[in-house]
Amino acid sequence: MTDFGAFTFLAHTIPGLEHIAWREIQRRLGNASLIGYRRVGQRNGLVLFQYRDPSAQLLQLKSTEDLFHLAAYQKDTSADRRGLQQIESLIRGSKYLDVGLRIDREMHRGRARRHPTFRVIARKEGTHAYRRVDAQRAVQRGILKRYNYKWRLAEDAADLEIWFTLLDNEAFFGLRLSDHSMRHRDYKVQHLPASLRPTLAYAMVFLCDPQPEDVFLDPMCGAGTILIERAEASRHRLLLGGDINPQAIGTTRRNIDPKYKPIQIIQWDATAIPLDDHSIDKVVSNLPFGAQVGTHAENIVLYPAFFQEIKRVLRPGGRMVVLSGEQQLVPQIIQQNEDLNLDETFDIVVLGKPATIYVLDRA
Ligand SMILES: C[S@@+](CC[C@H](N)C(=O)[O-])C[C@H]1O[C@@H](n2cnc3c(N)ncnc32)[C@H](O)[C@@H]1O
Repeated sequence: MTDFGAFTFLAHTIPGLEHIAWREIQRRLGNASLIGYRRVGQRNGLVLFQYRDPSAQLLQLKSTEDLFHLAAYQKDTSADRRGLQQIESLIRGSKYLDVGLRIDREMHRGRARRHPTFRVIARKEGTHAYRRVDAQRAVQRGILKRYNYKWRLAEDAADLEIWFTLLDNEAFFGLRLSDHSMRHRDYKVQHLPASLRPTLAYAMVFLCDPQPEDVFLDPMCGAGTILIERAEASRHRLLLGGDINPQAIGTTRRNIDPKYKPIQIIQWDATAIPLDDHSIDKVVSNLPFGAQVGTHAENIVLYPAFFQEIKRVLRPGGRMVVLSGEQQLVPQIIQQNEDLNLDETFDIVVLGKPATIYVLDRA
């Protein structure tokens, strides 16, 4: 059995954001060390890391959707029915669950109860002789026996959540430390279709390397998620947002707190932006994928003109981070634009659909 030690954590991400989440963890927490990455199908990326100094700071991570303390782990869980007994025994005898409970108590003062209610969420990838629900019950039995049946099972609003993930023969038992406020921020008063998940908007902002002297632009800002994540990430010289749709302009204005000034939100066509040449340091944007917003036929016309326009307004050495589901069109355009250097790409899954983040530098 592999033992990663008492202070091991699991960060859940949107699939494909694992590496960005890890960079953020390193930057924010300093002395964390990476154990590895995993994928739970199309649902989650996992970042497994050790961190000796857990504090509420862990809950400040912005590209992570949910955070867990790793209460137990097993590398070689049986795929036959013996696996169920192993799962039950592992959580029942976990050396580290009490460490996780202590960390949870310290992070959320006042949350502790002597005999809490709990629920178990189980996920499973691979072929096993038992079902997901059998594994879930095995974890439940393990916990009930561990605490002499004093802890009670709850359906929904439980005091504690244990997330059990079985990836082929690798079993992870995580005690959930975060709640929904980690991934849903509280700033969105109004929503629009195709609005970005805040963790993804933050990850894109992180990739642009925000600096206090930046003039920052989202030329297709929708509900304003990227602008708000940028505003919260660090100081700025100016935030600029625009959209062709007047409803989006109204929504962004309502969502963004005026305290983040200076900020200008303008209705425009992103292929003809009323801004001077080379006046922008960073562009971060989520382009219409051609499904929920726009069509592929429209994108064939829109994208080349858009990239041309961004090249004009971006200063040499400036950076552009864009997200798109157009996985052939964007690489073609980048190839045709010599003065846009492709620095990195990240293939991700957004609501079950493949998309890519492109990080480009203006030569
Ligand atoms: C995928 S959405 C952006 C969502 C946004 N990031 C959010 O989180 O709410 C794309 C946006 O591009 C806008 N758009 C489409 N064509 C445009 C154009 N030519 N100029 C400016 N905005 C455009 C749409 O109105 C839509 O709001």
